[in-house]
Amino acid sequence: MKKVLGISFGRKLQTTDVMVKEALLQCKQAGHEITFIRAQDLDIKNCTGCIACVIGLNSGRTKGECVLKDDFHILDEAIMEADAVIYGCPTYETSPTGLFKTVCDRIGPSHDLAFRKVATDERQAAGRPQSELPDPRALKPRVGAFCSCGGALTKNWLAFMSPVMYEFSFPLGIDIVDTFDYHGGMAYNHVVGNTSVIERMARMGQNVVEALAATDEAERTRWRGEHQGVCPVCHCNLLTIPESGEAGKIECPVCGIEGSVTLEDGRLKTAFSAEQQDRSRLRYGGKLEHCIEIREKGAPPGQIPDLEQRLDRYRWE
Ligand SMILES: Cc1cc2nc3c(=O)[nH]c(=O)nc-3n(C[C@H](O)[C@H](O)[C@H](O)COP(=O)(O)O)c2cc1C
Repeated sequence: MKKVLGISFGRKLQTTDVMVKEALLQCKQAGHEITFIRAQDLDIKNCTGCIACVIGLNSGRTKGECVLKDDFHILDEAIMEADAVIYGCPTYETSPTGLFKTVCDRIGPSHDLAFRKVATDERQAAGRPQSELPDPRALKPRVGAFCSCGGALTKNWLAFMSPVMYEFSFPLGIDIVDTFDYHGGMAYNHVVGNTSVIERMARMGQNVVEALAATDEAERTRWRGEHQGVCPVCHCNLLTIPESGEAGKIECPVCGIEGSVTLEDGRLKTAFSAEQQDRSRLRYGGKLEHCIEIREKGAPPGQIPDLEQRLDRYRWE
């Protein structure tokens, strides 16, 4: 029996709640322990940007705790306990809600798998006791799936949902095996009247159950979504064309990896090398790259000798 956490960023017993709960019920039916949290029921403050969490973690002084006092610890503890996380969010102005983004910011670099692993390795090598290491549960493999919903009948009104919803899972290193965007909610009084969406969410739950039962890494992380998407890692369709305009070059903004696009038989064909896929921020390689960049390339204090005088110009309000 594994622990499956469901998080809804929607209203009580409305679309997102029901979608996430349907997937959770499948996990319960398969014998797993389920927990449901409605983020709107918690008092979660905005990240102030003090970076005390990540400075403490990287310097070895703390385990990466946040200085804010609110309910975030409830979510944090539930995530740490979980073997799988299924989360859902409504679309507000083409993107996830402000509360969703607040939670992602609070997870942020302090919960980043690479930051925590590097900090753990360093402290172990220095012979520090277990009690001074980051939460060891942060390093356990987790699978996940997420869903979004929007009222609009056209899917482009949910354009930034999946790309932004990865901001919750990628720092934690949760391997996402399925995603689903439900658009057109306004055509139904309630999602419970839309059988195909309820069935799709049941399949999401079953996909998580299947991933939890896997005995090898390839099977555990295998993509079970019902669309392939353009990027083979995040399965989103959002691409960036580099500023240089270099013919054939593209970037996946979710993963931060480069690829190529060609025209074959009148169709666009995209490709991302295995090497690039491995440096996606959704995978450990990409996370480690950024962790090293932050640890080694940050400007040292005193770099701008007349900093205080320069700031005088802006000392008002
Ligand atoms: C502030 C606000 C902005 C919204 N913007 C969009 C939007 O851009 N695209 C869309 O499809 N639906 C939009 N909606 C509709 C919600 O996504 C939809 O009602 C959803 O089902 C709400 O989720 P819930 O029922 O789980 O609370 C918006 C709703 C609100 C309140």
